[in-house]
Amino acid sequence: MAGNKTLTMIKPDAVRDGHIGAILNQITEAGFRISAMKLTQLSTADAEAFYAVHKERPFFGGLVEFMTSGPIVAAVLEKDNAVEDFRMLIGATNPAEADEGTIRARFAKSIGENAVHGSDSNENAQVEGDFHFAGREKF
Ligand code: CMP
Repeated sequence: MAGNKTLTMIKPDAVRDGHIGAILNQITEAGFRISAMKLTQLSTADAEAFYAVHKERPFFGGLVEFMTSGPIVAAVLEKDNAVEDFRMLIGATNPAEADEGTIRARFAKSIGENAVHGSDSNENAQVEGDFHFAGREKF
């Protein structure tokens, strides 16, 4: 069954470049409701835990370094079929392959510095939402 929640992070590159407002606008215009949101910065331990599934990958060290390099915006988003619809909205992991008009096509620089994260399954949406937010921070 399709879930109705996903977790996004506006990554350090997009925050540094001043794109928080434009990205949030595109997300809400696409019909997502923000049910939790914060500006925060991941520690090395946080980023290693969040991306633990990638720890054997050659890009893991660079990913952790990049994700801890500055503040991010974390948010839980709600919409019918949220995980799949959000992945359509953000486009391919590699912005060179992202469809025109998607968030990564508009704002990402490279496969590593790709502006936004989106959960890849309903199960991970729940885990990642709980990683960033306490119950009293979700509305
Ligand atoms: P994200 O959706 O946040 O989940 C894993 C991240 O690893 C991915 O976005 C990319 O930003 C990052 N990454 C860095 N290098 C690579 C790579 N070569 N292949 C896939 N993902 C990569």
